[in-house]
Order: sequence, then C-alpha cells, then structure tokens
Amino acid sequence: MKQYHVAVIAGDGIGPEVLTEGRKVLRAVAQLAGTFSVSFTEFPWGCEYYLKTGCMMEEDGMEKLKGFDAIYLGAVGYPDVPDHVSLGGLLLKIRRGFDEYINLRPVHLLEGAPCPLKDVAREDIDMIVVRENSEGEYANVGARLYQGTPEEIALQTGVFSRRGTERVIRYAYDLARREKKTLTSISKGNALGYSMVFWDEIFREVGEDYPDVETHSYLVDAASMFFVKDPKRFEVVVTSNLFGDILTDLGAAIAGGMGLAAGANLNPERRFPSMFEPIHGSAPDIAGQGLANPLAAIWSISQMLDFWEERVWAKKILCAMERLLVEKNTLTPDLGGTARTTDVGDAVVRLLEESV
Ligand SMILES: NC(=O)c1ccc[n+]([C@@H]2O[C@H](COP(=O)([O-])OP(=O)(O)OC[C@H]3O[C@@H](n4cnc5c(N)ncnc54)[C@H](O)[C@@H]3O)[C@@H](O)[C@H]2O)c1
Repeated sequence: MKQYHVAVIAGDGIGPEVLTEGRKVLRAVAQLAGTFSVSFTEFPWGCEYYLKTGCMMEEDGMEKLKGFDAIYLGAVGYPDVPDHVSLGGLLLKIRRGFDEYINLRPVHLLEGAPCPLKDVAREDIDMIVVRENSEGEYANVGARLYQGTPEEIALQTGVFSRRGTERVIRYAYDLARREKKTLTSISKGNALGYSMVFWDEIFREVGEDYPDVETHSYLVDAASMFFVKDPKRFEVVVTSNLFGDILTDLGAAIAGGMGLAAGANLNPERRFPSMFEPIHGSAPDIAGQGLANPLAAIWSISQMLDFWEERVWAKKILCAMERLLVEKNTLTPDLGGTARTTDVGDAVVRLLEESV
C-alpha cells in the first residue's frame, strides 16, 4: 500500500478551518480507495508563531519539510504582521526554496457555481493557467534610495532568466500537447521591451519543438478584457509571475469566487515537495466563525491527488463538489447558503461515499 506523508501548515485566520475540511476529505478518499494511506504532520507556523518568536517558521523549517510528499497550506497573513513579512517569511520562502516554479491554477466553472458573466456558457470557462512562480517581477531584486527625501527612488527589477522562462513555457507546451488544447502566452512586449520581448522570443523558440500545438499570444491588457468578454478563447495559458497573479484572481472571480479557487505550487521534477493551497487569504473578517467556504481547500486536495497520479480520485472530488453546488443544500454564505464550514466538508464526504 502506498503511503503519502503530508505536511500541514494551517497558518492564519480561516486557514485552519478550511484545512480541517480538506484533511477530512483526503482521509475519506484514502479509506474509500483502499490503495493508499495518508498521514498528516502539523506545523504551527504563521503570524501567531511570528508574534511569539520573531520568525514565521522555525529556522530549520525547510529541512523539516523536505521529506514530505506534499505540503498543504491554509493561508498566511494577519493584521498585526506586515504582509511582506508574513508572505516573504513563509509562503514565498517555501515556493522559492523548494523551486516550485510552476503555479498551476484551474479556472474552471463547475456546474452549479455562480458566474457573474452574462451570455457565457458554463463550458466556455475552462482553462488552466500556468503561472511562472520563481522569478519575474517577484524576484525581490531592487533598492530604495534616498529614503525620506524628495529625491527618494524605489527600484523593483523583474528577473527573467533563460532557464526560468524556458522551463515554465516548456511545461505549458507539454500540458497543452497532453491535453490536446490550445496554448496562449500572455505578456506585454509592446511596453516592456526587455523582459517581455525576451519572453515572446522564448515562447516562439520553444514552440518549434511543438508544431502540433496551436498557439496564441496576447498582451496582458487585451487578455484581461477577453477573460471577461470571451473566456472560451483560453484553454492552457502561460504567463509571468505578476500577470499570472492578477489574471488568476480575475479567473477566480468568473469561476465561482475566492471560495472556489485553488492553486498548486509544483516542483515538477519532484526533487522537493510541492505545495497545495486555496488561493484566498486568511479572511480576518470572517475568521473563527465557521463561515469560511472550504471548497477551495478541498479542490487543492484534488490537485494534490492529481500530482500523485491518483487521477480517478482527483476527478471524483470535483464531481462531488459539483453535485454539492447543483443541489445547493449545503453551501456557505459566500455562495448564498447558510451552512457552516464543517457541514460542507461532511457533505463532500457523504457525496464521495455515495459515488462508489
Ligand atoms: N496565499 C495566501 O496565504 C494569501 C493570499 C492572499 C492574501 N493573503 C493574506 O490574507 C490577509 C487578508 O487578505 P485579503 O482580505 O486581501 O484577502 P482574503 O482572500 O483573505 O479575503 C478577501 C475577501 O474574500 C472573502 N473570502 C476569502 N476566502 C474566503 C472563503 N474561503 N470563504 C468565504 N469568503 C472568503 C473574505 O471574507 C474577504 O471578504 C492579508 O494578510 C493577505 O496578505 C494570503
């Protein structure tokens, strides 16, 4: 029997509440499948830990995480700790330290999920965004000069290496080929004459190895408009770190909202553990009240199973979520229901049990 060991960093705010439900679902899946088992090890890192210790995670935290099959992350950030400290000291540290250079974000409108767009068929919102996750505009290179003076200058440098750009674009081509889908690159070569012209060149260069993949290229401003007006243009999308960050929140908005958006941070070579998380934050406004929607965290479990190549169960989770959304009996307030966070986890488990 295969054994998967999962490191759990529940983090702040609603993080622990939604991860409890995700773990409940994964435990149920393991039991129903009968072909693998899962164990969870909890790490109490996050903003509360920071306020006690001055660090977001233990000094040897990365060493401790190294041996796991996956990291399951809730949310990081709370009002008493500056966001650049909490994100930089935990989430970004793990993404960079474990070379999780692919951020995979499905933008797929499940049946029954709400959509704010008019005249768009459900099937038209079905894309997967491959966001570069290790460099680009988030490389943390820059300077502050002459601070506090009228001459003050802030510099933030985008870093686009050939290796970093090629590998994310090649991953996206491979995905498009495997799924028999079109591939769209989103950049901004007309205004960012160094980094994005370079990106576009690499997109064309790598594409020579994939003559069978139909490709498109959009400027990020036009792409944002088409995400809303004509989302069916997009199937597999590849883009830089910053553009991907923004576009996938727009993607979340058209595909059911933040309570339904998941993201996987992958190290495709599996040299280090990959990390799975709902993309929402810690939602301090609703934390501790049982109001948080755990479906994004449950979708993350589906992505985890996909990465472990337990594809049948990954799909079954999405089907159970879809049934829940169609039935509308057990939804949290953000989706118009009155259910509690734990009710939703219980309902997904029940639907999974019914599906076997
Ligand atoms: N990956 C991460 O850990 C991550 C991502 C984004 C923001 N943050 C951090 O989270 C904190 C709060 O950020 P924010 O308020 O901008 O974003 P947020 O995603 O926490 O909340 C935005 C809005 O969406 C609602 N919401 C979010 N998730 C929900 C869910 N599962 N169910 C129901 N409603 C939900 C919240 O109640 C809030 O009204 C900040 O410290 C920020 O830095 C962390």
